[in-house]
Amino acid sequence: MFVRPLLRFWPDLRSRIGVYVLVLVLTLLATGIQLIIPVITGYIIDGPIAHKDLSALWLPVFGVLIIGLAEAVGMWARRMIVAPVVSTWEVTWRSRLFDRLQYTSVAIHDSWESGQLLSRAVNDLSQLRRFFAFGLPFLVSTPIVLAVGTVMLVIMQPVFGLIMIIMAVPAIIAVAVFEKHYRDTSRRSQDTMGEVTTDVEESIQGIRILKSFGRSPWAAERFSEISARLKSLEIRKAKLDSWLWSVLLLLPTLAQAAIVAVGTWGVIEGWTTIGTVVAAVTISMVLRMPIEMLGFLLADALMALTAAGRYWEVIDIRHDITDADGGVDDAPEVGRYSGKLRFDDVDFHFADTERLTLQGLDLTIEPGQTLALVGATGSGKTTLASLVPRLQDVTAGRVSIDDVDIRDMPVNELRHLVSVSFEDPILFSTSVAENVEMGAPGASEDEIWEALEIAAAKDFVSRLPDGLDTQVGEQGLSLSGGQRQRLALARAVIGRPRVLVLDDPLSAVDVDTEDRVQRALREILPDSTTLIIAHRPSTAALADVVAVLDEGRISALGTHEELLESSKLYRELMGASAKAEAHAHPGTQSSAQTTTSTQSQEGGRS
Ligand SMILES: Nc1ncnc2c1ncn2[C@@H]1O[C@H](COP(=O)(O)OP(=O)(O)OP(=O)(O)O)[C@@H](O)[C@H]1O
Ligand SMILES: [Mg+2]
Repeated sequence: MFVRPLLRFWPDLRSRIGVYVLVLVLTLLATGIQLIIPVITGYIIDGPIAHKDLSALWLPVFGVLIIGLAEAVGMWARRMIVAPVVSTWEVTWRSRLFDRLQYTSVAIHDSWESGQLLSRAVNDLSQLRRFFAFGLPFLVSTPIVLAVGTVMLVIMQPVFGLIMIIMAVPAIIAVAVFEKHYRDTSRRSQDTMGEVTTDVEESIQGIRILKSFGRSPWAAERFSEISARLKSLEIRKAKLDSWLWSVLLLLPTLAQAAIVAVGTWGVIEGWTTIGTVVAAVTISMVLRMPIEMLGFLLADALMALTAAGRYWEVIDIRHDITDADGGVDDAPEVGRYSGKLRFDDVDFHFADTERLTLQGLDLTIEPGQTLALVGATGSGKTTLASLVPRLQDVTAGRVSIDDVDIRDMPVNELRHLVSVSFEDPILFSTSVAENVEMGAPGASEDEIWEALEIAAAKDFVSRLPDGLDTQVGEQGLSLSGGQRQRLALARAVIGRPRVLVLDDPLSAVDVDTEDRVQRALREILPDSTTLIIAHRPSTAALADVVAVLDEGRISALGTHEELLESSKLYRELMGASAKAEAHAHPGTQSSAQTTTSTQSQEGGRS
């Protein structure tokens, strides 16, 4: 059934359903109570006026006053009560969406545009809140008011009732046609809104690139193309809307005209009274408002339906990285692990391709050992790293820690055991301290400083205007690339993880600093098993073992010196001149660096 996306909210609605039913009742009363006025008018005309009896007037007048008051109080109470209820629901939905996004695998995030997710979390949920606060109560009360009004007409004078019923037929047809077209247009419009959000987000994040390449006009053109599409969809919605609106405006007018004509004839013929005709015309006027509103309510309901559908699409994403029993547990206890990390015959391919990025890969890193992983660009180093915290799962084979398959560990336990720092260091828009503490929630200030010291970030952080409390931007915009990398590294090491995975963590800092960091890592975290992805000979030289990744598997394993002797690929990756320099002055090989990075990139392209 097409309203299923909305019905699925029932378990959430149940929590406050008592109050919500009160809201529905108040809405119904406030809109329905007006129907009594025509009855009173009819009574005044056929009673006090016809009999010239002024004394019988005070009761109906008092009645009209009470009705007006009840209507005002009802509407006021409705608004007061409904706001906290729907806001509570909205918060529930939004946090569910957020949780879902936090727990789905990176592969899913790769396949969704961020703007589509943003627009669902923001626009669609606001749409739903408005619908439950306003649209739904009126959508429930309006048909009831219309039905009651029609029944009253039938009772008063069946002919007038019949006129109302005849008028309903074209109205129902118009509504059905409208629904069919509007639902499709509304879906397309809301999806396009998601594209707009993605585009704005990307062009803000990439503003430096757009400006420096002088591509702002290109971005503007792309944006106006999407906006134009959104505009034409919105215009189409407005056209459909105004078409229905005019039909719904015209029909009650026709009904009124018919009632006046037929009524006058009836009064002359003597089968009805003036009071009844006036009452019937007044009822048809009271019913005008709900009929007109029907168009608006219907559009609102269809947009809410679309929003609900888009919401559930995200919630229904398969929760693919879970504990063996399907949940995600807390309360990790990781002290018993020694940190032996092992890849057994691992295959991996991305969901959108059959091509294996890793193929039959075997690798063991002993507890406390540091292994440097080198390989041409695009050889799959980052992919390999992302398997350890289960950002992706292997497609065959297994990754284990202390011989326990990481898929058999509770996800939270694994993520306590393993810390990662990726190539592009993302910082959140909060203080330096909070960014670092994220690696070990609840860490003390001393622990934060210690982590900063390991990451060679202590000096620059203490020179920041507010020290640890300095706010850094969304992407640490106010910090240099190397500074950001060092904060991200501090975040990775603060929890003293058993297994540390560092994806080229210091590519943006100078060789001296890198040397200091690597020595600090060994001294302060001697028990951490470290997988460090390296591009420079200096990084590789300091590791216990070096592994070369080629064509999806480890093609050579040994110390830096051994591999320089035995592996041609390794020599190429490290740069021909690296050998001599690595021996002579480890830590000051800036000329070797340049060669290295150029060559490894070329290696990747060829
Ligand atoms: N999300 C993805 N979907 C499909 N293919 C991907 C995805 N991410 C990476 N790849 C592909 O997988 C291969 C390995 O990428 P990976 O990022 O692991 O390389 P890398 O060795 O880390 O390279 P670099 O040294 O440049 O960081 C590349 O060919 C890349 O195009
Ligand atoms: Mg990489």
